[in-house]
Amino acid sequence: MEHVVRRYGLEQGALEVQYIEEHFSEFRHPKTADAIASRLRGRECLILMSMAPASEDDDALIPVAFKVGHELKAAETHPDLADLVRELDSCVRFAERKVFYSWIGGTRTEWREQGHYRALTEQQEQWAHDQGYHEMVVKTKNRFYAMRSTLARLQFDVVKLQPDPDDAAASKLYLSKRIGAELLRGHRTVRTVEETR
Ligand SMILES: CC(C)(COP(=O)(O)OP(=O)(O)OC[C@H]1O[C@@H](n2cnc3c(N)ncnc32)[C@H](O)[C@@H]1OP(=O)(O)O)[C@@H](O)C(=O)NCCC(=O)NCCS
Repeated sequence: MEHVVRRYGLEQGALEVQYIEEHFSEFRHPKTADAIASRLRGRECLILMSMAPASEDDDALIPVAFKVGHELKAAETHPDLADLVRELDSCVRFAERKVFYSWIGGTRTEWREQGHYRALTEQQEQWAHDQGYHEMVVKTKNRFYAMRSTLARLQFDVVKLQPDPDDAAASKLYLSKRIGAELLRGHRTVRTVEETR
């Protein structure tokens, strides 16, 4: 299967992410386009969507999966990102390296287990490699079991557990992957990438 991956510019991409997040029951606090754009503005970032026909007899493609990430620097001033860097400090080296944070993503229920998230992950890795990144990090929680299994299949390594003493399911996991030519050689999806500004 060939995946159609669409890359969006900041403003349109932020709107598309807001729309697609409304289809997920897992996101308790869906993000607004404003919040997404304000996090990404001024940072190197990548907004990707995987496209599929809306129904079997439909030729028109709609976004069915998404993945958004951005550069993460040692000297972040945004409070959430400064906290994230502090948590990662013991397990990710920032000095003289480019670190990419794979921030949010998912696949709509009806289109799961068709390779959309793998296609987006591989495209994100391809782009990160092209941009000179050394490492990709991602954060999840114990209770997101499907995401944890998927990240394991995609060969992310757990680099840190931040336990929640009251609720193990809410404990946070930090995972990472080194970006390099060898990683790209292991990619399995066939992708067409469309640029949308
Ligand atoms: C996790 C999620 C992104 C997977 O998306 P997807 O498009 O179905 O994933 P893919 O089809 O690309 O699968 C990628 C790999 O993960 C595996 N996988 C996917 N869902 C899985 C599941 N529920 N259990 C075990 N493995 C799973 C696939 O078998 C595949 O492995 P392979 O490529 O080695 O054969 C999707 O289920 C999702 O959006 N879930 C909700 C997101 C969420 O909980 N977010 C909370 C914040 S982190």
